[in-house]
Amino acid sequence: MRVLVTGGAGFIGANFTLQTLRDRPDAEVTVLDALTYAGDRSSLEPVARRIEFVHGSVTDADLVDRLVGAADVVVHFAAESHNDNSLDDPSPFVQTNLVGTFTLLEAVRRHGVRFHHVSTDEVYGELSLDDPAKFTPETPYDPSSPYSATKAGSDHLVRAWVRSFGVRATISNCSNNYGPYQHVEKFIPRQITNLLDGVRPRLYGAGLNVRDWIHVEDHNTAVWAIIDHGRIGETYLIGADGERNNLEVVRTLLEIFGRDADDFDHVPDRPGHDLRYAIDATTLRDELGWTPRYTDFRAGLEATVDWYRKNEAWWRPAKAAAEARYARTGQ
Ligand code: NAD
Ligand code: DAU
Repeated sequence: MRVLVTGGAGFIGANFTLQTLRDRPDAEVTVLDALTYAGDRSSLEPVARRIEFVHGSVTDADLVDRLVGAADVVVHFAAESHNDNSLDDPSPFVQTNLVGTFTLLEAVRRHGVRFHHVSTDEVYGELSLDDPAKFTPETPYDPSSPYSATKAGSDHLVRAWVRSFGVRATISNCSNNYGPYQHVEKFIPRQITNLLDGVRPRLYGAGLNVRDWIHVEDHNTAVWAIIDHGRIGETYLIGADGERNNLEVVRTLLEIFGRDADDFDHVPDRPGHDLRYAIDATTLRDELGWTPRYTDFRAGLEATVDWYRKNEAWWRPAKAAAEARYARTGQ
């Protein structure tokens, strides 16, 4: 199977590429990645000789047409992915997340190629803290940030291309991922690398916002289950029942580092900060038989801490710029 992975030098796409080459001997992988600040080719170094790497943008229609024409399936991870950056400058989010997805959809339509769109639970907006309800595929779209609005728009484009043009596509909306190769701007790697540098973790606001954590490898096995057995036109929610508030996550990290439970700072909250995300993954589990492997969050965090400890050469080059951006907002 010839697999075109967009955004394969980013966090989830790189893990997907590594896992695919480990688990699927029949796969031939081409990665298309623009190598923005979030892309790092060195994440693919373990498989560099086994993949074709193309440096380019999903908004480049000629390039996309050529690559899609040579693929059996497109797995679309490429995106501007960080909410805080979308508050500074939404423009690249519109270009990559909307125009880029449109460009890919037109190419898969021309070539009749199978398409899987990787999206986020943030398209559904926020849940309240005191209601046990979770997101389901029937939850109405209600995105809060420029990032989640562009991801919501891209989901609608995919559904319209399925219905109007018969494109063979599926969509997945996943909750917050953690694991190796995640950019240091994101919550968990930011706090781990702060602690490794002897800096106190930073909690937005009171730290009571809840995220539904899933290990990146579990996200990717779900994506393959959908590609292999999912129904065309269907939306699958991916989550592993990993709800924790941010304060609990920071306290677990402090414990792993042997630091005092109050050894962190509160910093200004994110404007429009969604309170809670939680996924009901019943369809994925019942229909496709998927189950997560990483069900012990603390063990997963310990392994992630260990990875960042051993791979300083990977994260160090990005750390100063990420912290300089946070310094501008006092976060
Ligand atoms: P990331 O920011 O780590 O990686 C994004 C990758 O896309 C980078 O390699 C970047 O260089 C590349 N890219 C950006 N613009 C591009 C363009 N125009 N053309 C080609 N490549 C481009 O993101 P991530 O966390 O790995 O997220 C991957 C996907 O998964 C995104 O679509 C995101 O919305 C979705 N998602 C992420 C999470 C999460 O917790 N990180 C959860 C659910 C869904
Ligand atoms: O839910 C899926 C989404 O998860 C993905 O679509 C996004 O691409 C991904 O970035 C992530 O979005 P979040 O905004 O939830 O992730 P982030 O890592 O930025 O923040 C996680 C939580 O931690 C959030 O409540 C904000 C908070 N936070 C974040 C940082 C960077 C802090 O308290 N302190 C911090 O320093």
